[in-house]
Amino acid sequence: MTAQIIDGKAFAARLRTRIATQVQALAGQGITPGLAVVLLGEDPASQVYVRSKGRMTREVGMASFEHRLPQQTSQQELLDLIQKLNDDPAVHGILVQLPLPSHMDEGAVINAITPEKDVDGFHILNVGRLATGQRAMVPCTPLGCLMLLRDHLGSLAGRNAVVIGRSNIVGKPMAQLLLRDSATVTIAHSRTEDLPALCRRADILVAAVGRPAFVKGDWIKPGATVIDVGINRTEDGLVGDVDHEGASQVAGAFTPVPGGVGPMTIACLLANTLTATARIHGLPDPDGLTP
Ligand code: GUN
Repeated sequence: MTAQIIDGKAFAARLRTRIATQVQALAGQGITPGLAVVLLGEDPASQVYVRSKGRMTREVGMASFEHRLPQQTSQQELLDLIQKLNDDPAVHGILVQLPLPSHMDEGAVINAITPEKDVDGFHILNVGRLATGQRAMVPCTPLGCLMLLRDHLGSLAGRNAVVIGRSNIVGKPMAQLLLRDSATVTIAHSRTEDLPALCRRADILVAAVGRPAFVKGDWIKPGATVIDVGINRTEDGLVGDVDHEGASQVAGAFTPVPGGVGPMTIACLLANTLTATARIHGLPDPDGLTP
């Protein structure tokens, strides 16, 4: 069997086109969605992300505000900037690029962002709202994975889903979203016993572990849908968390790396910025961008 490839790059491009159309409609009402991205320090990977975020923000017709601060910026200076962005009516979304320098308290910084502008969905209020089924801002990567799964499978109700990884950015919110769609959800992690056997029961397998080609072909249930969240830089280039060769022989469908989940994350950041803009202005949620 040769698995179908879930083309996240093409899906993300269509999503950005839909977002651009809705941004144009808002322009007719004198509203321009604005996204502020804050980057501390010189981490090369983060610089690349921030640059492409800025470019794509402008491409869909939104305003992009970039704030680059030195690595040794004090936490108070960062909190002061966040306060200014919270109060700025031209800014509808605020993203502080993680990881932060070690002298910062990440929780304190994230929770200083007003929840309505928290387009990452990391604020404790948004985490709680998602967990209790209230209207939340939803983290971008899991939101992108959910969109791909729904597009490929239709209803997720009753399907066995295994999420490998328990991070606050991907694993936990992914599990919440799958649960909201009535999947039967298991979160696996580094202490899980007999992970291969657990994975073999999964109709939906989401890998978010950050280890290259960690999930082997014989861990996959024949016909399963496999979502690979990994972006691992190796000597062979970008590699996912799933062994590509193995998955392509066993899975029903899987997301490639690159060109799968990665492009969906930035598209969902733009989707969240549009959603935040609509909510701030008291408009209905844009169609098809929220779970
Ligand atoms: N660093 C890696 N992924 C992310 C993300 O989704 N949001 C933020 N703010 N920083 C990140």
